[in-house]
Amino acid sequence: MTSGHDNARFEGKIAWITGSGRGMGKAHALLMAERGADIVVHDVLEAEAAEVAAEIRKLGRRALVANDDIVSPAAMKALAARIEKELGPVDILVNNAGIGDHKKIEEITPEAYQRMFDIHVKGTFFCTQSVVPAMKQRGYGRIVNISSIWGMTGTNTASHYCGAKAAVLGLTKAWAKELAPWKIMVNAVCPGGVITEMPIRVQGWDKIREKEKKVPIGRWAQPEEISYSVAFLASDEAAFITGQAISPNGGETIVGF
Ligand SMILES: NC(=O)c1ccc[n+]([C@@H]2O[C@H](COP(=O)([O-])OP(=O)(O)OC[C@H]3O[C@@H](n4cnc5c(N)ncnc54)[C@H](O)[C@@H]3O)[C@@H](O)[C@H]2O)c1
Repeated sequence: MTSGHDNARFEGKIAWITGSGRGMGKAHALLMAERGADIVVHDVLEAEAAEVAAEIRKLGRRALVANDDIVSPAAMKALAARIEKELGPVDILVNNAGIGDHKKIEEITPEAYQRMFDIHVKGTFFCTQSVVPAMKQRGYGRIVNISSIWGMTGTNTASHYCGAKAAVLGLTKAWAKELAPWKIMVNAVCPGGVITEMPIRVQGWDKIREKEKKVPIGRWAQPEEISYSVAFLASDEAAFITGQAISPNGGETIVGF
């Protein structure tokens, strides 16, 4: 994958990308490494994370692998300290790890509800909390929270997912205001449909093909098409952008005629 241009460079930057063993997180990691960043490949999928780290090292960048479950605040605090010790302080945090689920309200168990909010909201919250002190100290930071088109529009089969992704947008706006004095920019990316393991497993190909017909550009995205938005918001080019949500979605949220 190559962007063919020289924008949004990351030489000397350290980027922690949660859920980067596969899917979009992997694409974000590879694009930022290609553009000069050292990467923390963080995923509970150990083999996948190790493979992504190997690809990053082949690009000549440093890679640190972490397999901690994002839902543990203590583990995230310890991981931030480990990153600082082994690579240096985190410049960029991409809160990307997530899970999918399609269920009607009556089918959502307390356990499924809890896990959804734990991974998306608690995970995002405590990863961010663990990097903020060092970012404040250095007067620099980029935090990109991965929400979803469904965090903005809702959908009729995954209200726990939609609620968690909407909460991520609330965190984004609050942190943007709270952390702006330290030049820590906090923004969100709300992807439309993207071809990854998550929708293939949760929705299946028939449903994906049906949904693709309703997107104005006629298809879902490949993971790297979302990475360009993430990389832009993670870069120095976004020094005047904070508290915003961008939705690369092929026109899916355009209303009217
Ligand atoms: N694929 C889509 O259509 C789509 C659309 C909008 C938003 N999103 C969001 O984009 C993000 C990436 O999703 P994806 O489609 O690449 O899915 P994916 O399943 O391919 O990747 C998610 C990764 O997160 C990791 N992860 C999950 N729980 C974790 C935990 N507790 N600790 C550490 N890592 C964990 C998984 O192991 C996986 O590698 C998610 O937040 C998802 O909700 C996806």
